[in-house]
This record gives sequence, structure tokens and C-alpha cells, in this order.
Amino acid sequence: MREHDEDRSGRAQGLSRRRALSIGGALGLVAVTGLSTAAALARRPSITGAELRSAVPLPPAFQVPLPLPAVLAPVSTSGGADRYEITQREASAEILPGVKTPLWTYEGAFPGPTIESRRGRPITVTHRNELPVPTVMHLHGGHTPAASDGYPTDLVLPEGRHDAAMPAGHGSGHGMDDPRAVVTHLTRDHYFPLDQRPTLLWYHDHRMGFTAPAIWRGLAGLHIVRDDAEDDLGLPAGRRELPLMITDRAFGADGGLAYPALDPTLRERPGVREPYLAGVLGDVILVNGAPWPVHEVDTARHRLRVLNASNARHYELEAVADDGRRLDLVQIGADQGLLAAPVTHRLLPIAPAERYDVIIDFSGVPAGGRVRLLNRLGVGRTRDVMAFQVARHATDDSRIPRTLSDDLPAWRRSDAVRVRDFSFRTGRMDGDHGWLIGGLPFDPARTDVTVRLGDVEVWRLVADVHHPVHLHLVGFRMLSRGGRAPLPHDAGLKDTVSLRPGEAVEIITRFDGYRGRYLFHCHNAEHEDMGMMANLEII
Ligand code: C2O
Ligand code: CU
Ligand code: CU
Repeated sequence: MREHDEDRSGRAQGLSRRRALSIGGALGLVAVTGLSTAAALARRPSITGAELRSAVPLPPAFQVPLPLPAVLAPVSTSGGADRYEITQREASAEILPGVKTPLWTYEGAFPGPTIESRRGRPITVTHRNELPVPTVMHLHGGHTPAASDGYPTDLVLPEGRHDAAMPAGHGSGHGMDDPRAVVTHLTRDHYFPLDQRPTLLWYHDHRMGFTAPAIWRGLAGLHIVRDDAEDDLGLPAGRRELPLMITDRAFGADGGLAYPALDPTLRERPGVREPYLAGVLGDVILVNGAPWPVHEVDTARHRLRVLNASNARHYELEAVADDGRRLDLVQIGADQGLLAAPVTHRLLPIAPAERYDVIIDFSGVPAGGRVRLLNRLGVGRTRDVMAFQVARHATDDSRIPRTLSDDLPAWRRSDAVRVRDFSFRTGRMDGDHGWLIGGLPFDPARTDVTVRLGDVEVWRLVADVHHPVHLHLVGFRMLSRGGRAPLPHDAGLKDTVSLRPGEAVEIITRFDGYRGRYLFHCHNAEHEDMGMMANLEII
């Protein structure tokens, strides 16, 4: 589509320009409030991070069937609320054919079991920690009271660690000295009112300093909120609705997941080795935990609920049929639910933690044909993501309504009581390399931003390299990108926005729902662990 093509040529110029500019050089040029400078630098190299190489033979693409995560049944249902239990434990899985891979899991599976909930029907999820380290579970995109949001120091301690609430080895700037932390032993109840627009959420570990390796080892699962209005739209459903959690991983010679942690026990010292400081990339693309899988589909519309759960890898997805034809990716939803109207893409960028709700129509592909989902930013084997094998002729009574929703918040600039600026940049932390927001590394004891409940604010975010920025509690809308109108895929209500290198974006939101301590942070999980997180206090 036209906007993307312009963007692509912009990137081509940008690449040669970036060769002349070290990251440090680019840093110096981007002023926090200098939107026009940032716009001039808004280019994107394909990768932020370094790729680990697997030490075991990798299977050919499009052979392993796509797994669909099991939907978790509630353990009890009473008074209009459902209760779930999830045990966090070690397990091993055959991710690569013939190779056993130890994992950290929710309920023994990676991805963890999917929770399907109804808008406005509260649930309680009891997490039980049987892993060897403290954990924290966060429901990403949940409109959740602070006590259940999974603050990074609200640890659930494992068995035998009752007295070791605060692991040693954290320096002051990355301290665990947090008087407000609510630490529990073995279990914790999370209460989710789910009074929010229906959408795909995900839950994942959020422990301070160790989120990246914990997610990498398998602590991630899906959560789908539904409601009657969406059910009535006639969108593809049942077998024709597919959640797709995309992650990249690398495998060591012993079959385990490779990860360059400074402290492989994941207890004391957060962070990763050089040269992975900008992010850890794997050379194997997994969808729902399977390497480059294949899935049989009908000659009909399918709804793909795509999550990029990778630590640092960005994708630009395209669907390419065997004859080279690119299929439309009709976007119907963003991180926080349905768009007002569908937006058609040929190429869909997706940053870590973003979700896109997309419809592909396979009716034009002959039975027996194949459509590959490819990543334009990948090189070699990381170009392949998965394939759809068009197996059966079938009728299709689904539709894509021209109006999808009419409840998107329409905040205007003039509604905002405040404009704030935040830079997302590399820097020093405790004498080491760190990633900083507004020049500072995360400190749970410092309140970075205080917002009044109900206020509308505009936030201007500016980046040095790629930073997918996520706000807890609220959805926001994009006002501008690089000093210009947002891109087509910025539509709708989001909770994570991809800042491209050197780029500034403006977002607008209303801080609504609950008071308390929340977070905003970069969702490049390595950046997050190495300081790029800040406190948001709602009063
Ligand atoms: Cu996906 Cu702070 O979270
Ligand atoms: Cu979140
Ligand atoms: Cu970042």
C-alpha cells in the first residue's frame, strides 16, 4: 500500500545514512522535544539486537503442525465470577522434532493455556509458583487494579525461599529495595474485572530484572476477552479463528533454549552479555511454540489473532501464495480491540508485545495451494514464519462489516490537561550499559510520573533505536508519528507503540479505572530488564 511504499524508500535512504552514524552519533542528534529532527531520523534498520545461533540441526520449514494452545477451564464458577488455577512449573517439550527442551511453563505448556473471558465478567486467577525462582505474573493489556497487575517486585516466592524475599546482587539503580512490594509465598490471587473492550491479551512473567529470560524460557500465554457485540459481527470463528503467538528462540547443543544471561540461575544479576545488549534474537521462528509450522485451512476467510511475543524481534508480515501473489491482510483490530473500520495492508509491521487482529481470505487460492506467512525483516531462515495449506473447498458465511465498532475513545488534543516528554535511550546504569527513560534507569522506589485519575494527557515519546513502548492499565491512541499523521497500522486503541529508530510519536490517553502504582516501559524485554521502565502513579 502506498504509505508503506513511501516508508520503504525512506528506509532505503536511511540505511546508508545510518552506516555513517553510530548509535551514539544518532543519539546526540535526537533532542527530546525536537520532533522535526526525530522525524528526519525516523528510519528503521531491520534489527535491534543480536542473533543467537542454534547448535542443533533445525527442521525444514512448514512440516510441523501448528499447535493451538488448550483453553483453560475454570476450577469453579460462582456468583458471576470464574476462578482459575495456573501452576508455574518446569516441563520439557519436543519443540524441534526429536529434541527435548526444558522449559519454564504455565501448566506444563508453552504457550501456556489460553484463558477465554467475557467482558465485564470478573475472574480470579491463582498462580502457584513451583519454579526455582521468584516470579511475577502480569496480564498485558488488562484493565486491572494495581494490586493484581503484577508489579515487578510483587514476587511470588517459590518453596524454600521464604526468607529470601530480596535477592542479593542488585545495585542501587536497579535495587529491589522496595518498601511497597507485596511479596507472597507460593501462591498469589490475581483479580481481573475485565471491564474492557474485547481483545487478545497475553500474560507473562514480569519479575524485576528477569522478565526477558523468563519469557524466553516459556512463561507466556494468551487471554482472549470476548463480548456479545463482537460475537454478533459474523467474523470468522471456531476453527477459522486462530491465535498466533510468534516468538523467536535459539537452541543449545543439549537441546535447551540458549540465552546469554549474565547469571544463568536467573537469581542475582540481571542483564545479558555483549553483543546482545540491544536485544536477544533467535534463529528459529516459533508460532504457538512450534518451529515454522503449517496449518490446514479451508478456502474461506480466517481470523488471525497475531501476537509478537518475541523479546526483541520485529516482523513485517506478508502472506504470499505459491504463485507469488500477496494476499490482503485486512486488519480489524489492534492491541485493545476492534478498529472503527477495517484497514487493508499488504505488509504489516509488528513489534514485540503488539497484537493485530487480521483477516485473510483463502477463497482465491485453489485447494492444494499454499500461502506462506513471511517476515520481510528476516534474513535466510528467519524470513519464514509459517504456512497455510489450503486443504478443502468450503462455503463461507463469515463477513467483515464495514463498521466494526463505535466505542473507540475519540480524545482530542484539547482534552489534554498536560503534555509530557519521555526519551527512550541507551545510557549508563550502575557503571554498566543500561537503557534509560528520561535519562534514568528503573527504580521501584522513585515515582516518575504522577497522574490524576480521569485526566487526559498527551505523551511525546522519542527513541534512539527501536523501542516498543507499553503502558500498563490504559489503552491509548496515536496522534502523530515522526511529526506526521500516524501510519495505517497505528489505527485503533493500542497499549504498545513501536518507536522506530530516531522517531518521535505522540499518544493520547485518559488515565481511567484504578488508582495505584503502574508502569510504563520498553517491551524489548532485554531493554526492560536493563532499566527501561518507569513508575506511573495514578492518584
Ligand atoms: Cu507485557 Cu509490563 O508488560
Ligand atoms: Cu502490560
Ligand atoms: Cu527499548
